[in-house]
Amino acid sequence: MASCAVAGRLLRGARVNISVENVRQVWPGRAGSEVVALAGVSHHFRSGKFSCILGPSGCGKSTLAQIVGGLETATSGTVTIDHPDRPGHAVPLGSQSVMVWQNQNLFPWRTILENVAFGLEMAGMPFAERTDRAMALIASVGLRGFEKHFPPQLSGGMRQRAALARALIMDRGVLLMDEPFGALDAQTKIVMQEELLKIFEATRKTVIFVTHSIDEAILLGDEVVVMTARPGRIKEVIPVDLPRPRSFDLVSTPAFGKLFDRAFHLIRDEVTKAMAEMNQPGSTT
Ligand SMILES: Nc1ncnc2c1ncn2[C@@H]1O[C@H](COP(=O)(O)OP(=O)(O)OP(=O)(O)O)[C@@H](O)[C@H]1O
Ligand SMILES: [Mg+2]
Repeated sequence: MASCAVAGRLLRGARVNISVENVRQVWPGRAGSEVVALAGVSHHFRSGKFSCILGPSGCGKSTLAQIVGGLETATSGTVTIDHPDRPGHAVPLGSQSVMVWQNQNLFPWRTILENVAFGLEMAGMPFAERTDRAMALIASVGLRGFEKHFPPQLSGGMRQRAALARALIMDRGVLLMDEPFGALDAQTKIVMQEELLKIFEATRKTVIFVTHSIDEAILLGDEVVVMTARPGRIKEVIPVDLPRPRSFDLVSTPAFGKLFDRAFHLIRDEVTKAMAEMNQPGSTT
């Protein structure tokens, strides 16, 4: 990473807490049926903390991220976002968050610089100012020299860095990440995880990070929120009290191993249940 201190200076987005209270989400299924994706999820995501959501496929992780990001409205329950120093003054969902997905959705016809500056352009920021900011962010994710390239000219890992810069430039208090490194090869994934750790340590946003990987959840998170098979509920929250700054070396420590075992035992039963459910005739997944 070229300069996380630069990212830290550039990115002082508002600090926010997120309270999810009894959120239930029912999607329309096949032939008039209903799919209960979330069945009463409650959790308080604390300001400046990195929360990882771990759960079997189809348990509602992406649904929850979309609801918190204001992209979907929950069938029932509430999500409240507020500033720790102004409790009770809720801010609209989506206004404080930015999302990073597995498929980066960069515009292939725009350069990396134009992609990264896109949000500021939409917000009406003048060209010179948004370009300065985008150049600094591009450097901070290790892409200096690739500003004029187009997304198809970059590797998957480089595109994911650009997507991260495009999200970070918005300087929102909440970073919602839905399996952002899921499509990367194992080595690139480790590099990206370490870069994200540095960015987090420099910026201390409230991060909600969805993953299938136990290793990834423990390496990155201050807590691991383990979900049940669908209908998704919170099964247990594992606090990860490993010191920061962190690097991948942590993975081989006994403390990491203990947390891994605990998460693995919790998740194993749920994955088995989810697979059995998917194999049922008439399953809606
Ligand atoms: N827009 C939608 N319309 C109808 N059903 C949906 C919609 N989005 C999700 N679902 C259903 O809700 C359930 C939860 O889906 P979701 O994508 O949230 O799971 P997930 O935990 O993110 O899974 P994965 O780990 O595979 O990404 C699934 O059964 C899915 O088919
Ligand atoms: Mg998902």
